[in-house]
Amino acid sequence: MNFDSKKLVGYGTGITMLGTIEAFPLDFNYFIDDNEGVVGQQIMERPIYPSSKLLEEKPNAVFIVVFASNYKSTLKIFEKLIQLDLRKGEDFIDCFELQYLTIAEKLEREMSISSDYKLLNTIKTATGNAPVPNLSTPTGTWLYSHLLRQALREIDGDIAECGVYFGGNALITHQSLPEVSERRYHLFDSFEGFENISANDPKSRGGDFQDNDFEFVKSLFKSFPNVVFHKGYFNETFEEMQPRDYALVYIDCDLYEPTIECLDYFGEKVLPGGMILIHDYWFPNIERPKGSKSHFEGIQKAVKEYTEHRNDFDILVFPETTHCLLIKK
Ligand SMILES: C[S@@+](CC[C@H](N)C(=O)[O-])C[C@H]1O[C@@H](n2cnc3c(N)ncnc32)[C@H](O)[C@@H]1O
Repeated sequence: MNFDSKKLVGYGTGITMLGTIEAFPLDFNYFIDDNEGVVGQQIMERPIYPSSKLLEEKPNAVFIVVFASNYKSTLKIFEKLIQLDLRKGEDFIDCFELQYLTIAEKLEREMSISSDYKLLNTIKTATGNAPVPNLSTPTGTWLYSHLLRQALREIDGDIAECGVYFGGNALITHQSLPEVSERRYHLFDSFEGFENISANDPKSRGGDFQDNDFEFVKSLFKSFPNVVFHKGYFNETFEEMQPRDYALVYIDCDLYEPTIECLDYFGEKVLPGGMILIHDYWFPNIERPKGSKSHFEGIQKAVKEYTEHRNDFDILVFPETTHCLLIKK
């Protein structure tokens, strides 16, 4: 990637951009955003324009990094850029290419895991074609897939996901890693959205995820008999579980109290070398444009409270995808 002679433009000003540049610092000339509420403001002292700003640019003048967390939105932005005669790879890329570099380096350095670039492309394609959203993002699912592979190879015990929504992350990992279907895989969710929003969570997000359809989600996993559904709020479904050991647990439930419930329940059940991956842990400490989406800041509080008085977990943070990984010693 050589964009030395071009103006560097960030397409997107949300947490995906901020997390990516936390790990891979870049100095942008300006930003584009399709959210009209933030256009006309600044972020990190750089102006935010609508995409029509690109019509003013001469050929070969810009290099654009697209920061959409949702890969279907990324593909729509790509179409728009191609209509402006911009070329993929030469004039624009998606942020997952940058996230790959920093996450691959961290996986190798901290966990001796060799990363698989081909798998990122498989996951991107699966995300683009999936009948449901994957809110974990392609790189998040790719990171999770490396942990899954390691867990399946080295650790006994089940896999669990807490916070499934339409099952995007679970479905794509089952489609991309055939070996996953050989392990019991639990999916925990109300499949009706949140129970309560506490004072530690953003009130504006209280109605999220109520548009679920449990029968449809179940139908997506018909060909994976290893998948076991646990419908209900965590405080009910965990009580009904038989004691089991776990190799890997993924927590993506957005809220403070449910995250504490998951950590309290699974923390003791994860085997040594086993892992707990938690989404939405990282968030930026900068002033953001008015009209930006609120972050789920309760997750970091929950994880810090859970880990501060114990020393049986190593912690790794991946700002690129906002994940935090707890590795049982
Ligand atoms: C961000 S979505 C999960 C997205 C999913 N991991 C993916 O990759 O697309 C969060 C989910 O957590 C669930 N959730 C939050 N709190 C819960 C609780 N206390 N009990 C059960 N489910 C809960 C919501 O119903 C919602 O479906």
